[in-house]
Amino acid sequence: MASRCQLFTPVRMNPAMETPLPVQIKPEVSPSDLPDLSFAAIKEVLQECRGFDLGSYKDKCMKRRIAIRMRATRCQTADDYCALIRRDQLELDRLLKVLTIHVTQFFRNPSAFGKMQSEIFPYLFARAVQHGRDRLRLWSVGCASGEEPYTLALILKESFTEELEQVSATLLATDVNVEILEVARTAIFGPERLNEAPPGIREKYFTLLDGRYHLQPEIKAMVEFQQGDLNHTGNYPPSDLILCRNVLIYFERKQQEKIMHGFADALDTGGILVLGKSETLVGESRARFETLCPVERIYRKC
Ligand SMILES: C[S@@+](CC[C@H](N)C(=O)[O-])C[C@H]1O[C@@H](n2cnc3c(N)ncnc32)[C@H](O)[C@@H]1O
Repeated sequence: MASRCQLFTPVRMNPAMETPLPVQIKPEVSPSDLPDLSFAAIKEVLQECRGFDLGSYKDKCMKRRIAIRMRATRCQTADDYCALIRRDQLELDRLLKVLTIHVTQFFRNPSAFGKMQSEIFPYLFARAVQHGRDRLRLWSVGCASGEEPYTLALILKESFTEELEQVSATLLATDVNVEILEVARTAIFGPERLNEAPPGIREKYFTLLDGRYHLQPEIKAMVEFQQGDLNHTGNYPPSDLILCRNVLIYFERKQQEKIMHGFADALDTGGILVLGKSETLVGESRARFETLCPVERIYRKC
C-alpha cells in the first residue's frame, strides 16, 4: 500500500526490456470503501467484545475514523480489518479510542465557565438553601481526561468556599472509555491543556514537574470518576447540574433526543443542563427545558 507521503509513483524495472514499468498503487482507504455489510460486522465486534453501541453514532463520522485505523494497520479491505479486530484485542482498543474522540482542555470555551461561575453556581447554591438541601450533585458526562470536571472543582474552590460550608458538592465524572478515565485519575497534564485557564490558576493549583502539570491532591479528590455509557439512559444519576459538552455531536439525532430526555428525567425541576457550543436541544426534548443562555447552551429543566 502507498505510504501517505508518497510523492512520486514508484517504478520497477522490467528485466527483459530494461525499461521502467509503473507499479499499480492502491489508493488510500477512504470511508466510502467501507461497505455496509463490513460496517455492520465491525459494529457487531465492538458490541460483542466491548459492549460499545456504534449504532447510535453518526455513520459518516464513524466510518471516517475506522478508515484511519484501516490505513494505520495497512488493511486493504474492511473484511481484513474486521478479522484483525477479532483476533487483536489491542487493535480493538485502539479503534475504540479513535471512535471516542477525547479532545478537551481546562476552561474549554471560557465564556461558558464564566457564566457558570457568575450565574449558574450562585443560582444552584441559593436554590439548594431554599429547598433545605445540603448537597449539590454535579455530573460531567463524557469527561474524557478530566479537564472539564476538574475545571468545575477549581471554580468551586476559587469562588464558593463559603457556600460549600453550608451546601456541599459531589462531582461525578463519567466516560465510556476506560483508558481515558485512567488518564483522568492521574491528574497530570501537558501545558497545552491549560492554555485557556485564567491567569494564576496554574501557579496556584498545579506543581510543574518535568514539564507536566500535576493537579493539587485536594482538587483531585473533589472528583469521582466512573465508567458509564450515555446509551444506557435508564441509569443516569439524579443531578442538579449536568455538563454534556462536545459529546452529542457524534450521535444520531434520534439518539441525541433520547439522551436529552434521559437528562430531563435525571434533573429536578430547576436543574441545569449545559451542552457544547455546537450542540442544541432536539425534537420533543425542547419542551422539557427553558433556555437560560442560548449562546452558552445553558438550559433549565421545566
Ligand atoms: C470530545 S470529548 C469531550 C470532553 C469534554 N466534555 C469537553 O467538552 O471538553 C468526548 C468524550 O465523550 C466520550 N463518549 C463518547 N461516547 C460516549 C458514550 N456513549 N458515553 C459516555 N461518554 C462517551 C468520549 O469517550 C470522549 O471522551
